[in-house]
Amino acid sequence: MALLEILEFPDPRLRTRAVPVTQFDADLVRLVDDMFETMYAAPGIGLAASQVNVHRRLLVMDVSKDRSDALVFVNPEIVERDGIGVMEEGCLSVPNIFDEVERAQRVVVRAQDRHGVVFERELVELAAVCLQHEMDHLEGKLFVDYLSSLKRDRIRRKLEKDRKARATSDAAPVGAARI
Ligand code: NI
Repeated sequence: MALLEILEFPDPRLRTRAVPVTQFDADLVRLVDDMFETMYAAPGIGLAASQVNVHRRLLVMDVSKDRSDALVFVNPEIVERDGIGVMEEGCLSVPNIFDEVERAQRVVVRAQDRHGVVFERELVELAAVCLQHEMDHLEGKLFVDYLSSLKRDRIRRKLEKDRKARATSDAAPVGAARI
C-alpha cells in the first residue's frame, strides 16, 4: 500500500469531472486500498479519487470512530434524498478550514463495490453529508463553492500563507473531521 498525495484548493485539477469506472481489476483494488490508507493517515473520514488526482468515479469513507465502517462507492448515484440539514464541514483538500453547508439529511445511494457488484445503501446524518461531499468532488466541486466568493478568496489567501509557513517548518497541520 502507499500514501497518495492529496491535491489542495485552489489546484485546478480538483475541478476535473471524473469519468465512470469500467475496469474492475487488481489496479482498482490497489487504488481503493491506497485511498483508505491515505484517508486514515490524514486523518479524514472520506476521500474521493479526484482528490488524489485520479479522475474516476470512486470514493471511500469511514465515519466510525474506530475505523470499523470502511465503505467503498464506485460509480455512485443518489437515488433518494430527504430532509435538509446544516453541518460544519471540512475537507482534506482545504486544510484546517471549516464552514457550514446545507445538504440532504438522508440519502439512498446506488453504487458498485470494488468488484463491480451493484448495491444500495441508506445513509443518514454525518454519513449522508460525507457521501454528498465526496460525490461533489467527482463533479469537480468543493464545499467552499457553497460559501460566498468573499469567504472563498479569504480561504485561498489563508491556505497560501499556511503553505508558505509549512514549507519553512515541520509542524503538522491540525484539524477535526476532514472529509
Ligand atoms: Ni473533501
